[in-house]
Amino acid sequence: MQQVPIYQEAFVSYLKNFLVKRNPESLYNPINYILKLGGKRLRPVLTLMTAEIFECDYKTALNAALSIEVFHNFSLVHDDIMDDAPLRRGKETVHEKWDLNTAILSGDAMLIMAYQLFENYDCETFQALAKLFSKTALEVCEGQQFDVDFETRDDVTIPEYLKMIEYKTAVLIGAAMQMGAIVAKASLEDQHLIYDFGINLGIAFQLQDDYLDAFGDPKTFGKQVGGDIIENKKTYLYLKAVEFSAEDKKTELLHLYSLETKNHFEKIKTTKQIFVSSGSAEATQKEIQNYTTKAFLVLDKLHISEENKQALRQFGEELMNRNV
Ligand code: IPE
Ligand code: IPE
Ligand code: MG
Ligand code: MG
Ligand code: MG
Repeated sequence: MQQVPIYQEAFVSYLKNFLVKRNPESLYNPINYILKLGGKRLRPVLTLMTAEIFECDYKTALNAALSIEVFHNFSLVHDDIMDDAPLRRGKETVHEKWDLNTAILSGDAMLIMAYQLFENYDCETFQALAKLFSKTALEVCEGQQFDVDFETRDDVTIPEYLKMIEYKTAVLIGAAMQMGAIVAKASLEDQHLIYDFGINLGIAFQLQDDYLDAFGDPKTFGKQVGGDIIENKKTYLYLKAVEFSAEDKKTELLHLYSLETKNHFEKIKTTKQIFVSSGSAEATQKEIQNYTTKAFLVLDKLHISEENKQALRQFGEELMNRNV
């Protein structure tokens, strides 16, 4: 096992070779733009790490890692249209920098490119990767649709929310890890266990994303702080605040989330105050911890070295303490 920065650097240099100048530039420039914009490179690092955890050279997993990152970036380009987001990684989103049609088509092309990368593997590996990818990509679409449907509902439950974030976010993190295991030809049992580890880590990750969307530092967060509040997203923060609040605050919150207000500043300020005073901000932090612990429990069953289990634990701890 290498240190995380080694995987990051190896991935980024592999990505650079993948990004070539192609025509029409109006299709490929936005693709290169979003892929070069950075980000944490969480998913590809997990693919590479997992391959090594199962005793395989991480370089063998570079194409699978790239596929996952290209798919992730495709999903962000379309997600930013759906969420009407102006900022991504501290820069303009693709549909703002170019336009809506460009973001749609460049996104579509990235989805195909992600698939194409599996052609670099032997038949058996290709089939296993493509099968997992198709299932995962469809689930991401389902999760994204639930997320949008929930914006206009006022009766979303916590189990519905958890299912939504499992689909829109956690399955891709699970799949990123399972792909590393597939390339390493790990047993099916270990493949499924590492997938479960990724699912739990992914749920913690999305809970944290929701938390940071409200409470992140605008100087470092890279996305519009309060974007979820503006869009009436039914996050864990919101659902717990409704559950914990007395009748007057609850009515205020429901009212705030029922209007198309132009005064975003006031709405964000009041909502965040309720998130804190109701105890929902604290409950969200606890839930992040709970899902991270759940992920760690899966490690006990995996057939890997204690040293590698420790590396995964450390990765999970660091993810929980992130601020971007
Ligand atoms: C953003 O993912 C979308 C979510 C699922 C929360 P990341 O937070 O991994 O985004 P980047 O790639 O690091 O920018
Ligand atoms: C995004 O969830 C999940 C996918 C892109 C599939 P969010 O909408 O919370 O992600 P951010 O906050 O825009 O990165
Ligand atoms: Mg979004
Ligand atoms: Mg979204
Ligand atoms: Mg978010």
